[in-house]
Amino acid sequence: MNADRYNIPQLIADLELVSAQLDVDREIVSAVRPLARCAALSKSSWLEDRMYHADAAQGFGVHLLHEKPDHTLAIFAVSWLPHRGAPPHDHGTWAVIAGVDGPEKNEFFERADDGSRPGHAELRKVGEKVCAAGDVVAMPRGMIHGVWNETDAVTVSLHIYGKHINYTARSQFDRERRTEMPFIVRVEA
Ligand SMILES: [Fe+2]
Repeated sequence: MNADRYNIPQLIADLELVSAQLDVDREIVSAVRPLARCAALSKSSWLEDRMYHADAAQGFGVHLLHEKPDHTLAIFAVSWLPHRGAPPHDHGTWAVIAGVDGPEKNEFFERADDGSRPGHAELRKVGEKVCAAGDVVAMPRGMIHGVWNETDAVTVSLHIYGKHINYTARSQFDRERRTEMPFIVRVEA
């Protein structure tokens, strides 16, 4: 794996191998972590100017690079507008995210309630990590994070999921209102 030559077709082939050999989330994200880093560091092979476009309404732009016909093994370039972000959310699948251009602040949370009241959720912050170019955040299913671009420029990161996140019935959380709601994102055409 050469960071100068790695590209999205090679990443897809490697992800196919990982998914064929492993079925435990923690093992999968450990195996995907170096692939994501390598792909992020070889951005010249795949990153296009159009992927910096972000949707002003949602604060970020979601650019689909790959998914299988059953929506598994989804790869996105996600751009983040300055001083915007995504609320705390889960993914409904495993997720590995690598910084590509600019630092993004990730905050991690866990549920502080027992999940017994539909639509109600209380979150407790358990950590944070600033993810710059080549840095990787690897999350097994169930982990909750929020993302924020604290810089004055658009940032870009590479997102790899076990399944396209609009097909996993995942949730977003409002910490102040203590709510849990569906989280569907708008994907760029
Ligand atoms: Fe996320």
